[in-house]
Amino acid sequence: MTSIPAHAPAKRKILCVVGTRPEGIKMAPVIRALVAAPWAEVRILATAQHRQLLDQVLGLFGITPDRDLDIMEDGQSLAGLTSRLLARVDEVLAEEKPDIVVAQGDTTTVFTMALCCYYRNIPFAHVEAGLRTFDRHSPFPEEMNRVVASYLADLHFAPTERAKANLLNEGVAPERIFVTGNTVIDALHYQAKRVDELDAYVDPAKRLILVTAHRRENFGAPLASICAAIAELAERYEDLHFLIPVHPNPNVAGTINSILGGLPRISLCEPLDYAQFVAALKRCYLVLTDSGGVQEEAPALGKPVLVMRTDTERPEAVEVGVARLVGTDRIVIFDEVSKLLTDNENYALMARGGSPYGDGYAAQRIVTAIANFIT
Ligand code: UD1
Ligand code: UDP
Repeated sequence: MTSIPAHAPAKRKILCVVGTRPEGIKMAPVIRALVAAPWAEVRILATAQHRQLLDQVLGLFGITPDRDLDIMEDGQSLAGLTSRLLARVDEVLAEEKPDIVVAQGDTTTVFTMALCCYYRNIPFAHVEAGLRTFDRHSPFPEEMNRVVASYLADLHFAPTERAKANLLNEGVAPERIFVTGNTVIDALHYQAKRVDELDAYVDPAKRLILVTAHRRENFGAPLASICAAIAELAERYEDLHFLIPVHPNPNVAGTINSILGGLPRISLCEPLDYAQFVAALKRCYLVLTDSGGVQEEAPALGKPVLVMRTDTERPEAVEVGVARLVGTDRIVIFDEVSKLLTDNENYALMARGGSPYGDGYAAQRIVTAIANFIT
């Protein structure tokens, strides 16, 4: 339960911000918990840095934005997106005058909102704070977005003790950091209870491998190498079926469609709504991904996850042995997947489940900390 301070005065205005698909998923539990808090007047801003992907999530969670900047342009550049966001977000802050702003993660939406809050001296609460690779180019530009957001934030909701330690090392005051777990586990529990059936066709006789890829640092040759590995695996192992919901970023969709389109045992599909994606996670044998959120979700459902990156700001699952960094090299991916397909002991170790990222109550902890901060 959210604790409400006895002295709680008039309602406080909380502006919750969402820009992309993962922000929608990870903010949904926070928004729901805030809406239930009697001291909070909740306003929701969609920057719509993502259009279709964000709408899909907000629809599923029944969230209707009060304001929508409809900022996305096809093939948007980082600088173009950043400058449009800075101008429009600042207008919203000027008009809404919130008591606090809450945002999640490491996107351009979050970085620009944190900066605009700082300029207007409005407290900024950062959900999923303190994740670091310590490589400013990986993930790009997310590592830098997250570091800058930490410098600008007033409240830091760290999902793990390691994330908290990263923030302490950077000089963040301990009383401003709260270890809450990751709200993605709250969202996952909510959806996992509600849906079992996967609508997309997957051959029931085959082992399903779920694949997602979209990182900017993997555009071009690394993504082509990932696709080549998948093509070889599908050819070599006839009992596999690959399901690949293709991210609409043209740099991703172009490569995946041109290399993997039309190949047997490989289904390319539109992005799945979150309920369907969770159903696919539950149904699959293993996951290949460069996503942040999927690295957190797969272990929670007991699915081995091979991370197609050279480093991760989410090392906890790698350390406990339920995720493995495999990079983007064609041969390494082929070999690592083969190991899991052929070595039952190896598979069982990675499929034992248990999430280091939370217990499903992160949103309640976050709302309690916000209440204590602003009331
Ligand atoms: C963004 C985030 C990334 C996050 C990812 C989640 C930044 C810089 N990047 O990357 O951190 O991991 O979202 O998916 O903040 N597009 C559509 N429809 C959509 C969404 C995207 O058509 O609903 C296409 C558009 O052409 C758009 C392009 O994808 O210009 C890129 O979108 P953008 O948000 O800039 O980058 P992502 O790669 O999606
Ligand atoms: N996801 C989804 N449908 C898909 C692919 C992913 O709902 O077709 C969800 C996934 O469960 C996770 C989130 O989107 O919660 C991850 O988003 P993405 O990989 O785009 O971004 P990242 O987490 O890397 O920032």
